[in-house]
Amino acid sequence: MFRRLKNCHNVEDLRLLAKQRLPGPIFDYIDGAADDEVSYRRNTSAFEDCDLVPNVLAGVETIDMSVTVMGQKLDMPIFCSPTALQRLFHHDGERAVARAAEKFGTMFGVSALGTVTLAEIGEMIATPKLFQFYFHKDRGLNDAMVERAQAAGFDALALTVDTITGGNRERDLYSGFTSPPRLTLKSLLSFATHPGWALNYFLRESFELSELKDHVQQGSNVAVSIGDYFSSMLDQSMNWSDAEALRVKWGGPFCLKGIMSVADAQKAVDIGADAIMVSNHGGRQLDGSRSPFDQIAEISDAVGDKIDVILDGGIRRGTHVLKAIAAGAKACSGGRMYLYALAAAGQPGVERALRNLKIEIERDMKLLGVTRISQLNREMLRYR
Ligand code: LAC
Repeated sequence: MFRRLKNCHNVEDLRLLAKQRLPGPIFDYIDGAADDEVSYRRNTSAFEDCDLVPNVLAGVETIDMSVTVMGQKLDMPIFCSPTALQRLFHHDGERAVARAAEKFGTMFGVSALGTVTLAEIGEMIATPKLFQFYFHKDRGLNDAMVERAQAAGFDALALTVDTITGGNRERDLYSGFTSPPRLTLKSLLSFATHPGWALNYFLRESFELSELKDHVQQGSNVAVSIGDYFSSMLDQSMNWSDAEALRVKWGGPFCLKGIMSVADAQKAVDIGADAIMVSNHGGRQLDGSRSPFDQIAEISDAVGDKIDVILDGGIRRGTHVLKAIAAGAKACSGGRMYLYALAAAGQPGVERALRNLKIEIERDMKLLGVTRISQLNREMLRYR
């Protein structure tokens, strides 16, 4: 079936359009996860083990779905998680996501493995911006990244804590996916069968990891798999004191991305973090790890009054956002939910993805009998 953006009504439609447009190895990098991809599937299916119990006759003509996380007011309760390599998926890359997020008044998380400079994104949009930080062995690079995020006016910083070594992404092993893409007979064949993507990739500005390229060759000039990048470039000695020192150096709203246990959530409070993203990295790191939705209630019960608890991963529907918040999350975030859309159609694609979710959240709030996000609570949930 030939797909068009105007017929994409949900994340799965956008996923199929992305699959049509992208060379196989690039699609599989986005779509794939670790080992048997059990956690990846569970991230979404966990929502199906929980039902909503609506209330009616609640006077729901005016809906306010805004939330405040990390001190930032968002017009909708889900934001764009940081994801790497965006200009590989669509030639506008982060520029497209930034502009779409601004239109919907939500936060844009920019990855340390981004392909447009923080300075440019900072100039481009006025809405909340989160910088995602990887703790590299190269301390000069770490300091430079923090300083550039500060100079570009980023509002918050998230330290990723679940990539201490590369996840076993077997789809990438089979396809030979690297950043930048290695030009082999096999990859050239996949490019040739996707000429729309290939012409943009080869004829437009050349691919780079903008914040890293002046410090490290890997990823921009030397092809590496993302797993190898994590295993060889990041500092495996990273510990809680390093996280605390980073928070102090940054000086603004600070988040740990990839917290899954109550014990770690409590330590995040102890080091003065403002937020945690409950996340298993989209199932791309430790397969068999519990899903964010399965963990959200116990983590929110333990620390939800001291720190912003964000559910990251698995969101495909407005009802998933509402279930996560009813269970205790302050807001949600997601990567693939907008990345498929970016690959499918650039900025209009990401706008479509955010619009679909916004319409669903508004409709579902009305059907659930709530007008504000703060009215969601556990009484509205029943676990099977
Ligand atoms: C990944 C990293 C780059 O999951 O976040 O591929």
